[in-house]
Amino acid sequence: MRTQVAIIGAGPAGLLLGQLLTRAGIDNLILEQRTPEYVLGRIRAGVLEQGAVDLLDEAGVGARLHAEGLVHGGIEISWAGGRHRIDLNGLIGGKHVVVYGQTEVTRDLMEARAASGAPSVYEAEDARVQGIDGERPSVRYRHRGEARTLECDFVAGCDGFHGVCRQSVPASSLRTYERVYPFGWLGVLADVPPVSAELIYASHERGFALCSMRSRTRSRYYLQCTLAERVEEWPDERFWAELVRRLDPRAAADLVTGPSIEKSIAPLRSFVAEPMRCGRLFLAGDAAHIVPPTGAKGLNLAASDVRYLFDALLAHYRHGRDEGLNAYSERALRRVWKAERFSWWMTLLLHRFPDHGPFGDKIQLAELQYLFDSRAAQAVLAENYVGLPY
Ligand code: APR
Ligand code: PHB
Repeated sequence: MRTQVAIIGAGPAGLLLGQLLTRAGIDNLILEQRTPEYVLGRIRAGVLEQGAVDLLDEAGVGARLHAEGLVHGGIEISWAGGRHRIDLNGLIGGKHVVVYGQTEVTRDLMEARAASGAPSVYEAEDARVQGIDGERPSVRYRHRGEARTLECDFVAGCDGFHGVCRQSVPASSLRTYERVYPFGWLGVLADVPPVSAELIYASHERGFALCSMRSRTRSRYYLQCTLAERVEEWPDERFWAELVRRLDPRAAADLVTGPSIEKSIAPLRSFVAEPMRCGRLFLAGDAAHIVPPTGAKGLNLAASDVRYLFDALLAHYRHGRDEGLNAYSERALRRVWKAERFSWWMTLLLHRFPDHGPFGDKIQLAELQYLFDSRAAQAVLAENYVGLPY
């Protein structure tokens, strides 16, 4: 079998790239190792920058997002019993973010792909990328016990952090940078109305907490936890009681609790692999980089990678020009590192660090107080939160 662009991974990065290519008349095939149901079962963050919204519109999948997404012009930081609003809209010239779950983005993209008739192979096992240094790369895989080979012009590695694409780059051609944080996030999804109209990021001596949402009737809450903790140790009652302790009195009083419909623990990590290209293999999204969720940048970075990669592939196929492909890694990484910096900074600002000591704790306090007292500091947070330009 042959295609122009072989896309490995049907997460948001792979599906979005596929949709843009299909609409531009560029053949592509998506290989995904899991089932569609499994992919849709993963719960991830849900804050979209304007650039991501624009790209989803361009891909023709913006209708439900505009109808059901919640436009947020601010976020709140809960600290020392009070709440401080960061006026995203007022600080950064009318900008906002849209709260719309990543699961819904994925569902919209999957439906659009099915409607377009573009090919996807789910449950593709043992994918192996070959010949990326030459003119004729290929991907070998197994499907329903049968060995297959897909020949292509380019491979888009959209297969997430644990994928096979980054691992197919020779170690001598790749440099990785990593920070693993000494805690995780315990997340709960529940069909209860959100505690507040906007997201609340809470800094508390017992640990960080976040109040987010998926809709006006479905909420997503998180607690900073240790890496040793297990979900079974957190029955719903314990989760809600701990969340109440970490919130300001007003939020604590307004909180509506109910049975959880999902509960999981995720570690926090910063990770970047450079470069994001090796010959005819291009990495995009979590395959190349991970951010801690504190800045809500994971999906947004996948979108900006896809923007650059799609533009570059379009220039190649339409005009025979390869400047975009040659500049892809550098361009994408410039934006990636800025989002890495912001996500790291938000994480440092709001979490309890067991190993920071009294000096580190004082610096964190000064950083928070500077933020609350300085409009310039708030503008820096707001500019990054709504998303830096592509
Ligand atoms: N072969 C085929 N598919 C694979 C392979 C493989 N060897 N390895 C992984 N995959 C698939 C995974 O099953 C997954 O569906 O690649 C997909 C990668 O999707 P994501 O992990 O969602 O990564 P990405 O599309 O880059 O999304 C970035 O979305 O998933 C979140 O946390 C992520 O917010 C970030 C953003
Ligand atoms: C979420 O809704 O899951 C969410 C929102 C904001 C974040 C992280 C996660 O910073």
